[in-house]
Amino acid sequence: MTTPAIHTQDLAKRYGKTVALRALTMTVERGQAFGFLGPNGAGKTTAVKLLLGLARPTGGEAWLLGARIGDRRARLRVGYLPELFRYQQWLSAREVLVLHCELARLERATWRAEIARTLETVGLTARADDRVAGFSKGMQQRLGLAVALIGAPELVVLDEPTSALDPVGRFDVRRIIGELRERGTTVFLNSHLLTEVERVCDRVAIVDRGEVIASGGVSDLAGEPAVRLRVTGLDPAARGSLAAFGSVQDEGEWLHVRGLRDGAVPDLVAEIVRRGGRIYAVEPEHRTLEERFIELVGERERK
Ligand SMILES: Nc1ncnc2c1ncn2[C@@H]1O[C@H](COP(=O)(O)OP(=O)(O)OP(=O)(O)O)[C@@H](O)[C@H]1O
Ligand SMILES: [Mg+2]
Repeated sequence: MTTPAIHTQDLAKRYGKTVALRALTMTVERGQAFGFLGPNGAGKTTAVKLLLGLARPTGGEAWLLGARIGDRRARLRVGYLPELFRYQQWLSAREVLVLHCELARLERATWRAEIARTLETVGLTARADDRVAGFSKGMQQRLGLAVALIGAPELVVLDEPTSALDPVGRFDVRRIIGELRERGTTVFLNSHLLTEVERVCDRVAIVDRGEVIASGGVSDLAGEPAVRLRVTGLDPAARGSLAAFGSVQDEGEWLHVRGLRDGAVPDLVAEIVRRGGRIYAVEPEHRTLEERFIELVGERERK
């Protein structure tokens, strides 16, 4: 049986009086793309730092690729893009990567190909020999991503990988994560860009103020099927009768029907037409991860 890529049990971190992480218990299986979401200050970066041995927990335990956190050999199999990183400004992109080939203890004979591969993956081949000092923010983030990919690690941990990237860069990151997943690499992604996470992740956990407030598959969290219809010509009684199909919300010409049974849309449409309604549009309505996130975090704030 293979061990999970990440497992934590009541992992906690206090900085003086600040509780950065309360009691994190979670498992990330191998080969998953896992999104770790939460508002600013929720404890995402803290969790990553604890996992990578860059900060010491004040409570709980955790394992990375089957080894207790802090184990140096396990860390060699992990690629990491830190949240706030600065590479040596006087080095070229290639030189930064050489340094990291050495740190990853790759065989010298493989460096050249490895560097070419990662530069190509992140789209920096043409800038390989330019100094980091002259790189834009997004180019530095691309370089950081290349560093995280050096040595084809088993687990790649990305702390806000797209914060500085333009739409093309973001698309590239999605592509890279997709490729990693195809190769069976586990990806752990910190982000508050929820639409991105929704597109690339299999599973997510939402953290707020140091604890997980929801977790599961992306579609589980997004909630039950719903549809919106643009309808005219329905009188109030006819509108009322639609309650049999689900919970109906009326917004002028648009009707939102949530909590539909599977396969109920054709019957709903037939009923509207039978009662004299004219239908101009029928659109599936997924509650996005973003809506769910705001709902969950907002509920806690009101309490
Ligand atoms: N080195 C530190 N010293 C003191 N407090 C810290 C330190 N690092 C983090 N904290 C505190 O711990 C909490 C969690 O911070 P963390 O950086 O983990 O949040 P985050 O979820 O990554 O937020 P963001 O989305 O802004 O990156 C915050 O209240 C922060 O102020
Ligand atoms: Mg952070």
